[in-house]
Amino acid sequence: MIYKSLIFILIFLVVGLPVTANADRQSAELPSYVSKQLMSNMRGNLDTLEKITHLLTESNYTEAADMAENHLGMSSVEIHYQKFVGKYLPKGMRQISRQMHQAATDFALSAREAEKDDDLQKAFAALSQVMKQCVACHKLYRAK
Ligand code: HEC
Repeated sequence: MIYKSLIFILIFLVVGLPVTANADRQSAELPSYVSKQLMSNMRGNLDTLEKITHLLTESNYTEAADMAENHLGMSSVEIHYQKFVGKYLPKGMRQISRQMHQAATDFALSAREAEKDDDLQKAFAALSQVMKQCVACHKLYRAK
C-alpha cells in the first residue's frame, strides 16, 4: 500500500510537476526571431552572473560593478532591446525586466560602496536582488 502511494507521488513529481508548472506560466507569444534574440540575451545574462560571482570571489568589486552595469544594468537596456525585443514583451514581463535592470544598477552602486570595507556580504545581498528578478520572471512566463 505504502509502495503504491510512493510510486504515485514519484510519478507526479516526474510527470505532473513540470506540466502544472507550465500551465501556471503565461506564454509570451513572440515571433521566432524575437524569441531567438531573447534566449540569446538570456544565455548572456547567465554568463554575466557567473562572471560577477567569480569577480566577487576575488574581491574584485570594481570589475564586478562594471560587468553588472554594462551587461545587465540600466546602461545595457539598449543592447537588450535591439531588434525590438522589448516591444513584443507582455507588459508584466517588461516591468520585471526593468526591475532587473534597475536591480543590476543598484548592485553596481552597492559593489562600489562595499569595496571600501571589503564587504562581500553587502555585495552578495545586492546581487541576490538581481537574481530575484530572474526567478520572478521565469516563474511567470515562458517563451512558447
Ligand atoms: C522579464 C523576464 C525575464 C527575466 C527578467 C529573465 N529571464 Fe531568463 N528567460 C525568460 C523566459 C520567458 C525564458 C524562456 C523560458 C521558457 O520558455 O521556458 C528565459 C530563459 C532563460 C534561459 C534559458 C535560455 C535558453 O537558451 O534556453 C536562461 C539561461 C535564462 N533565462 C537566464 C536568466 C538570468 C540569469 C536572468 C537574470 C539575470 C534572467 N534570465 C532574467 C524571461 C526572463
